[in-house]
Amino acid sequence: MLEHMKGAIFDLDGVIVDTAKYHFLAWRSLAEELGFEFTEEHNERLKGVSRMRSLDILLEIGGRDFGEAEKLAMAEKKNRLYVEYISRLDETELLPGVKEYLSSLRARNVGIALGSASKNAVFILDKLNIAGLFDVVVDGNKVSQAKPDPEVFETACRELGLEPQDCVVFEDAEAGVAAGKAAGMRVVGIGKPEVLKEADRVVTGLHEL
Ligand code: BG6
Ligand code: MG
Repeated sequence: MLEHMKGAIFDLDGVIVDTAKYHFLAWRSLAEELGFEFTEEHNERLKGVSRMRSLDILLEIGGRDFGEAEKLAMAEKKNRLYVEYISRLDETELLPGVKEYLSSLRARNVGIALGSASKNAVFILDKLNIAGLFDVVVDGNKVSQAKPDPEVFETACRELGLEPQDCVVFEDAEAGVAAGKAAGMRVVGIGKPEVLKEADRVVTGLHEL
């Protein structure tokens, strides 16, 4: 399936770089302030999920509820802390095989896109010094529907000037795999086959490809 692809669409968090640990630290700090425990296991539920939906899940875990304005302020506070952590990112935090795989696709003239829920995606690509490797970047600022809705991947495919059947999505989250399939694309899951059941193929990382 990878031999014939014309476009490759990559999720960011968990595929290109492991930012989940920084999201976790920032969400945990918010939970501490609110007086409840937030564990790494809880954090698994936030992978691939938008910022506001993540906050709703966190508040559900803590059994707390707030109005929209308060929630927006909390999400902003969490993001300020998260941005402080990711300001220190550099190339050494790229996941294994990322640069090599993207360069090999480029050499084969495969279109390369980012399809991420994150509103910090461009900032992160710059920190990792790989922004120039992407032909198209679609992030949380460009789409209105969060994964598992296919909007992010459909937009990336359109901007690459390709059809869904020509594109392969690379995703580590269940919601992202579902979004890729809903977009009519083939999906390579990054992680565990028992979790990413809907994926067409599952690998542990881009270094395997
Ligand atoms: C996804 C992450 O890529 O981006 C989620 O997997 C995160 O955990 C989401 O909540 C939104 O990120 P941001 O940077 O806009 O808060
Ligand atoms: Mg991800």
